[in-house]
Amino acid sequence: MTDFLRVALIGCGLISDDHIRAYAAHADRAKITVCYDIDAEKAKSRAAKLNAHVAASLHVAASLEDILADPNVDALEVCTPPHLHPEICIAAARAGKHVLCQKPLARTVAECDAMIAAAHAAGTVLFYGETNRTLPSALEARRVMDAGRIGQFVGIQARFAYWQGGEILNTAWRYDPAVAGGGQLLDSGIHALALLNTLGGPVESVSCYTHRFRPEMGGEDTTAVAVQFAGGAVGSLFSSQAVGTWVPGPLLTVSGTEGALTLGGGAALTLHRPDLPDRSEVLLADDGNQFAAMIGAYLNAVLRGAENLSPGEAGRQDLQLVLAAYQSANEKCQVLLAETAP
Ligand SMILES: NC(=O)c1ccc[n+]([C@@H]2O[C@H](COP(=O)([O-])OP(=O)(O)OC[C@H]3O[C@@H](n4cnc5c(N)ncnc54)[C@H](O)[C@@H]3O)[C@@H](O)[C@H]2O)c1
Repeated sequence: MTDFLRVALIGCGLISDDHIRAYAAHADRAKITVCYDIDAEKAKSRAAKLNAHVAASLHVAASLEDILADPNVDALEVCTPPHLHPEICIAAARAGKHVLCQKPLARTVAECDAMIAAAHAAGTVLFYGETNRTLPSALEARRVMDAGRIGQFVGIQARFAYWQGGEILNTAWRYDPAVAGGGQLLDSGIHALALLNTLGGPVESVSCYTHRFRPEMGGEDTTAVAVQFAGGAVGSLFSSQAVGTWVPGPLLTVSGTEGALTLGGGAALTLHRPDLPDRSEVLLADDGNQFAAMIGAYLNAVLRGAENLSPGEAGRQDLQLVLAAYQSANEKCQVLLAETAP
């Protein structure tokens, strides 16, 4: 087991900035040494910009094949549009490289299975790059629930609704469900579903309604999802890209028979109980840099053999829930996850 990870960044678009800043926060354990983008100019300008800002000493590779064959690359950071995730991640595993792959892991459950199988066969780490799977407040909330501080788990209510204008919607692939794999629920709402799975999962059944208010979106832009967890607790998510503004307030509330937890809305994590002074207590003020937390967890898994907190299986679980929700909306029925086809 190595004690330093040399990482190749694949896809130098919008989200790659966050990954490079996150690696800069772990400079003692890892470094992005090379980047590649199908758009060579984009790769060059990103490398130059980031070299200037974080002294990353990035250089640009001519092809993905060069990176896969490079013995000085230990791992790939996959930040391309979703339709490319399976091919790149499977090729990386076969070349003996670890992978952190941005969400969504893929567009189908069968693709997820192939990615997971390739990593298992190669003995490499496949880490699902969903920041909410390693969010400090979510992990702490889970510990607080397991310690019984909100009593018996009753349900979760989540809201992930705002108009992400500007740069994020200038990426053409987001308007094309064939590339993106779906609409807003898969592109953005999946962050909230990852929290539902982390805190309440596994989900047994789902019902969903969708609508498109903004004609420029390729898939749906607004969704209401209702789930039932194993054990009986229930959950709901209102997710939208059509809402004109971000509404202050918690992203998510977890309710129990003796108390509740809120994520966001003033503090990262707050416990609410009738017996607390002021009926509430801030357990975590701030989540800090969520990408740095994610990369830290990834490096712990790769370099120290720690538990993988966000394995490929977690990506499969989140995707399966999104696809089951779409099936429910399309077929106008409740969908049991155990009965969904890969
Ligand atoms: N965690 C988050 O909050 C978050 C936010 C935004 C995006 N994402 C995810 O990150 C991924 C990328 O999204 P983005 O917003 O950065 O998109 P983007 O379009 O800005 O960047 C994608 C980059 O991939 C490049 N690319 C396309 N085909 C390629 C290929 N064959 N080989 C190498 N590079 C190729 C493009 O040229 C582009 O530079 C998506 O999976 C998206 O869902 C996550």
